Amino acid sequence: MKTKAAYLFFYTLLVSNITYCVAQNSSGFHHFWLVQVWPYGYCLEVRCARNVSRFVIHGLWPVTLNEKTLPGTNKSQPEILESLKNDESLWDNLMYFWLSLSTWDKDKLQNFWIYQWKIHGSAQQQVVPPYYFRRAVQLTRYTDLLNTLNSAGIHANGSSYPKVEFRKAIKTKTGHNPSLNCVFEGGHFQLKEVFICVDADATNFIPCQRKKINGESCRDTIMFPTRTK
Ligand SMILES: *[C@@H]1O[C@H](CO)[C@@H](O)[C@H](O)[C@H]1NC(C)=O
Ligand SMILES: *[C@@H]1O[C@H](CO)[C@@H](O)[C@H](O)[C@H]1NC(C)=O
Ligand SMILES: *[C@@H]1O[C@H](CO)[C@@H](O)[C@H](O)[C@H]1NC(C)=O
Ligand SMILES: *[C@@H]1O[C@H](CO)[C@@H](O)[C@H](O)[C@H]1NC(C)=O
Repeated sequence: MKTKAAYLFFYTLLVSNITYCVAQNSSGFHHFWLVQVWPYGYCLEVRCARNVSRFVIHGLWPVTLNEKTLPGTNKSQPEILESLKNDESLWDNLMYFWLSLSTWDKDKLQNFWIYQWKIHGSAQQQVVPPYYFRRAVQLTRYTDLLNTLNSAGIHANGSSYPKVEFRKAIKTKTGHNPSLNCVFEGGHFQLKEVFICVDADATNFIPCQRKKINGESCRDTIMFPTRTK
């Protein structure tokens, strides 16, 4: 009798655990992409209001195991902006690292972060604001892409370098290959965006699935563009 009760008890635990896990992952959320933009490449393709000579965050996007982005809830959550306003250092960091290139307008700048949460970030509930924004900044700061590439002899001055050099340099920081997107312009594949895979807690860098790496648009040689005069 006793055994049976114990068995039932554990059985119940097991079932509720399974239900819990499935519910958690029902969206298919598996990990994030930290997406950073190199403005002088990105703005060849997109009309920009400004260029800055540093990598800026595009977003921290929840994706499936299969490397597909998940649509956010698109729900309006005005309390998020309030929570950001209450954290001055986070706010300053967002202004620096998560800068929209499409506007000079202060209101539109902050709307960009909120917009990113609405259409991407809110597809998962494991990492929520303001922590979500803080992690995006911390991870970006850690990757320190411009210096990381410079230290490997890769300079943003319009020179071209083998893709393997870009990969190797970034891998020394994150432990894994990035996925590199380029814009083809003026006969060159020019660096536009760097995708780095991050675990579901937005804590550690993880390897991207092979298909994400293979699907990158940069070819064997990448031009690292600079300001056009
Ligand atoms: C749910 O996702 C988390 C995080 O990716 C993973 O560790 C866990 O094993 C998944 N659980 C199930 C039941 O798939
Ligand atoms: C930004 O840089 C790109 C590439 O160098 C250039 O085509 C674009 O005109 C620049 N935009 C601004 C606003 O400076
Ligand atoms: C949210 O909006 C984006 C862009 O407009 C759209 O692609 C996505 O499907 C929407 N998500 C939901 C859950 O409606
Ligand atoms: C870029 O900088 C490197 C290192 O200073 C230099 O060797 C290279 O010639 C420069 N390329 C251009 C196009 O100025």
